[in-house]
Amino acid sequence: MIVSRLILKNWRNFRHVDVNLRERQFVVGPNASGKSNLLDVFRFLRDIAKPEGGGLQKAVKSRGGVSKIRSLAARRDPEIIVEIYLANSPDEEPIWHYAIGLKQETRGYRQPILSFERVSQGNKKLLDRPDSQDKEDPERLKQTFLEQVNTNAQFRDIARYLESVTYLHLVPQLLRHADTLQGRQLEDDPFGQGFLDRVAKSPPRTQKSRLAKIEKALKIAVPQLKQLQFERDEDSGRPHLAALYSHWRPNAGWQREDQFSDGTLRLLALLWSLLEGDSLLLLEEPELSLNAGIVEQLAPLIYRMQRQRRRQVLIGTHSEDLLRDQGIDGREALLLTPDSEGTRVEVATKVKDARALLDAGLPIADAVLPRTRPGNVEQLGLFE
Ligand SMILES: Nc1ncnc2c1ncn2[C@@H]1O[C@H](COP(=O)(O)OP(=O)(O)O)[C@@H](O)[C@H]1O
Ligand SMILES: [Mg+2]
Repeated sequence: MIVSRLILKNWRNFRHVDVNLRERQFVVGPNASGKSNLLDVFRFLRDIAKPEGGGLQKAVKSRGGVSKIRSLAARRDPEIIVEIYLANSPDEEPIWHYAIGLKQETRGYRQPILSFERVSQGNKKLLDRPDSQDKEDPERLKQTFLEQVNTNAQFRDIARYLESVTYLHLVPQLLRHADTLQGRQLEDDPFGQGFLDRVAKSPPRTQKSRLAKIEKALKIAVPQLKQLQFERDEDSGRPHLAALYSHWRPNAGWQREDQFSDGTLRLLALLWSLLEGDSLLLLEEPELSLNAGIVEQLAPLIYRMQRQRRRQVLIGTHSEDLLRDQGIDGREALLLTPDSEGTRVEVATKVKDARALLDAGLPIADAVLPRTRPGNVEQLGLFE
């Protein structure tokens, strides 16, 4: 399943969004245009649906409360709306529709409270809150039915789907110093500190076959790398990755992940994540620390991986090298354009001028990216 359409109202720097999403979707925009905020919508839904609990209250609290989530540009109508459609593929009719509206209590603890929660399967409405019980006891509106096992039975598929959304923004330093930072890992491990544990926990055969595929890809990206393997520290039992590098010095031998380059580590984690599951994968600027030649290969690489596993991938990026790939369809790029009333989100093919350039055969890098460059960027050169 994929998220085939997203609708937002008053979500952070977006006043209103209504876009269709493909299996591979690039979210393209200048700095601070809201790329991370857009990806965060799906982490928010995951936090609500997560089985370890927390639900709506925790998802809002961990983001600093309703007032931090609600768009500063919101005026008379301060309701926040998040709405998704799930389908088997981008061109098929949706199977599921899930929508919530969010407000803050006007009295008391000013806790987040649902203004509505709706679920449909095809044309059939399964849920339409507030229902009569909610009206009798408004406290019930502090929890979604999505987060409760005894109320989501009819649409458990949505909860399962959302709880396995994965976000990857590997910070190599955190992985390298995992030992010294032990116990300081954030929930859901957004920065990849627990990456080695994830590799360690996968069943041996799966682990072996994934590492073999990754080794093949890494050998192309890092030509000196000859072999990649998983191992455990003899004394502590801690998991490690080790690579054999060929070197001008004979017997240069094996190195562990703490000696890998930032780029190698990030690429490794990216490839592993692509092979790992079949739920939505959110990638935050995957181009970081990678050289241009490798970045140019990311789009086709994701495409090839998706042919084997139909995992939807949402990629926040402003990399020209990444978006130069001719294989990226105009529908696969969402363009974020900040303006005074909040950021606009449009599929690249719907932006008039960009469309003409795309039709003429230009890649996203040339047809769309120039629109995201700050108007007076050359003035940065005057900074003293
Ligand atoms: N509630 C809000 N209302 C309006 N703007 C917001 C809100 N929350 C954050 N922002 C703005 O969103 C921008 C950051 O967006 P972000 O997703 O980090 O950008 P990007 O990832 O594209 O660099 C900041 O300029 C911030 O001021
Ligand atoms: Mg960002």
